[in-house]
Amino acid sequence: MRSRSDSSGVSPNLLTTPSIYQQIKWVADPVGYMENAVLKYPDLFSTKIIDSRGNFVFVNHPQTIQEILTNDRKKYTAPGELNEILQPLLGDYSTIMLDGSSHRKRRQLVMPSFHGDRMKSYSELIVNLAEKVMNQFPVNQPFLARDAMQEISMQVILESVFGLHEGERCQQIKHLMEQMSSLFRSPFSSSFLFFTVLQKDLGSWSPWGKFLRDRSRLDELLYAEIGERRANPNPARIDILELLISVKDEDGEGLSDKELRDELMTLLFAGHETTATAMSWGLYWAHYLPETGEKILKELDGLGNSPDPMNVFRLPYLTAFCNETLRIYPVAMLTFPRVAQEDTEILGHRIESGTVVVGCMYLVHQREDLYPQPKKFRPERFIERQFSPYEFMPFGGGVRRCLGEALAIFEMKLVLATILSRYQLQLVDSQPEIPRRRGVTLAPAKGVKMIVTQKRVRQEPQLAMTSSKK
Ligand code: HEM
Repeated sequence: MRSRSDSSGVSPNLLTTPSIYQQIKWVADPVGYMENAVLKYPDLFSTKIIDSRGNFVFVNHPQTIQEILTNDRKKYTAPGELNEILQPLLGDYSTIMLDGSSHRKRRQLVMPSFHGDRMKSYSELIVNLAEKVMNQFPVNQPFLARDAMQEISMQVILESVFGLHEGERCQQIKHLMEQMSSLFRSPFSSSFLFFTVLQKDLGSWSPWGKFLRDRSRLDELLYAEIGERRANPNPARIDILELLISVKDEDGEGLSDKELRDELMTLLFAGHETTATAMSWGLYWAHYLPETGEKILKELDGLGNSPDPMNVFRLPYLTAFCNETLRIYPVAMLTFPRVAQEDTEILGHRIESGTVVVGCMYLVHQREDLYPQPKKFRPERFIERQFSPYEFMPFGGGVRRCLGEALAIFEMKLVLATILSRYQLQLVDSQPEIPRRRGVTLAPAKGVKMIVTQKRVRQEPQLAMTSSKK
């Protein structure tokens, strides 16, 4: 691999403020940071946002992103080592840390678990979990939608990864995942990911010390589950762990325990944090702009009683609403980094071999030429016009395109449809939510505080979806 960590050569449209200031600003206020930069350089700019790395070129010009992401096994590569920021959580053998042929093989292995028909088998679980979580909130008692959605998404991912969402070990895994995620919930605490100098074990009371201890307890539980499952293979199971344990490469070698652990961590964390945020934004918009929630309900009414989950999935307004939710504040702001493998040119700028480039979803989705009045939440724009995969790209693209996209969208639609049709909710705060850094993602700053005012009094239809059970 020819990636170069100190691409100090030619950096087009370089932001010249001191790099430490840029790093702090990027961690503390990524939206303000990107919006300022784009005022100066509309399509692309270079900046140093990670202390151990050279300049990154942020690109938000759709055709250029397409050129990069459709060539990211040759002219560009997607080196795992540049995702080092996630290494303490995911380990060295996660899909995200691999590259080249081992990356391709791992994706081929995991991908079928998140596709098409497999999703249908999760629908009953998703609907039941949404109801279970919402039923625990007494009427008129405030709760944070972000936390409630995390409870749902965590159980869904535990079921798809391990085939279990109950039981002692599962509860412990959930608890530790919550603890570890909470370390990165504010911009300040997210600094632990960005500034390696802060990653010091100063005992179990220090944030990083606690993180390391939680991680090793979680590892023990994961290795215990892996050990038991290896000892008792069951080909009838359809969960991802069973699949990963059973696969062998051309030499008859399977994945090691360490490789399994890292992949499980990846799916568990990538799979629940992001989806929970997307769903909480969805609940926010449906109540902040109640006419949008009403339109979803009207569309659901048209499906009659006990709608088929796949029919819910295909509803045009619900689809447009979810797209607009993922457009306006994309949960992931950037693609993983790509590295130029030859001297090239983008938008008239020279790009040297070794230059690191990232696609900036946040800025693409804020382009006035694609999305007039981009700050306005307007699902209809997705009905009036089709966008290319590089104009609307909440899940990235190319060789690292999100593996969990189908699950995330399916879950988001079913959860929103279930909650909107069964519960009447209100936002507690009339002030708008703004996006704030949460680890490497953007999430609602105040967590979307809501109350349940009543169970919806409509007799019919209530979402009582059935599914082809596993
Ligand atoms: C709304 C929810 C989600 C969003 C917005 C999201 C977004 C993304 C983005 C932007 C990327 C990087 C793509 C690139 O570099 O081009 C990515 C990669 C990835 N996502 Fe997601 N994701 C979501 C849900 C999920 C779920 C549910 C899972 C797993 C069950 C998942 C697993 C992954 C994995 C494993 C990768 C790395 C792929 C690779 O390195 O090859 N994501 N995701």
